[in-house]
Amino acid sequence: MSSSIQDASKKSSFEIFNRIAKSYDSVNRVLSFGLDIGWRKKVNTLLPQKSNLRLLDLATGTADQVIMLCDINPNIGQATGMDLSDEMLNIGREKVKRFNGKIELHNGDAVQLPIEDTQYDALTMSFGIRNVPDVPASMREMYRVLNEGGKALILEFSLPKNPIVRFGHLFYLRYVLPLVGGLISGDYAAYKYLNTSIEAFPYGEDFCNLMREAGFESVTAHPVTFGIATIYEATKQPGA
Ligand SMILES: C[S@@+](CC[C@H](N)C(=O)[O-])C[C@H]1O[C@@H](n2cnc3c(N)ncnc32)[C@H](O)[C@@H]1O
Repeated sequence: MSSSIQDASKKSSFEIFNRIAKSYDSVNRVLSFGLDIGWRKKVNTLLPQKSNLRLLDLATGTADQVIMLCDINPNIGQATGMDLSDEMLNIGREKVKRFNGKIELHNGDAVQLPIEDTQYDALTMSFGIRNVPDVPASMREMYRVLNEGGKALILEFSLPKNPIVRFGHLFYLRYVLPLVGGLISGDYAAYKYLNTSIEAFPYGEDFCNLMREAGFESVTAHPVTFGIATIYEATKQPGA
């Protein structure tokens, strides 16, 4: 089994995020040139069309994804964000105050969710799955907590197919990103981790197959911006 999907060293990857929590939002915007905003909006277009939707956002971090979804999607009735990094969650808690309880943030492990079966209509996870120590176990947990007919939407970095774009992107990942991320956050190692984890992680059909193995059906990969990131859409079939 690929070491990138079961990697015990990632057991404490959330501690890296405790270190960089304060600068996380600003570094994110700079390093993605704001592109992540469009990708997060596209996640919204794939959410189930259902009123009073119950949403779970895994590895929610500082809550950027769940906040954007609640801002633009009036169908969301209640949202829960879950993460292992208290420092990231504390920043998120300040940001979600304006939702008056509609968004709750809790400490919880995406590999062992402290949630009963079949509680949510939709689940999102943006830039989180790459960091968990056991990807198949996390996917099985996603499947377990979704209602029948529920949808999982996972946004994660991937690598472009076009060789020229890929070459330029790898140069950016290996040399520019750790330098700029390190300069702004003061933590070069954290941003070096980012590029090595992206390059080692499965994407495209390999990732879709992992979701199918967890029980999901109608699994589709939606590459965005030349494939530097991909949104994976997967359904827990009714009657499953
Ligand atoms: C790159 S951040 C993404 C944050 C947020 N989803 C976003 O879109 O900006 C990755 C997050 O995954 C969290 N994380 C890492 N391992 C985790 C685990 N096993 N369970 C839950 N969260 C985890 C980290 O603490 C961190 O906040």
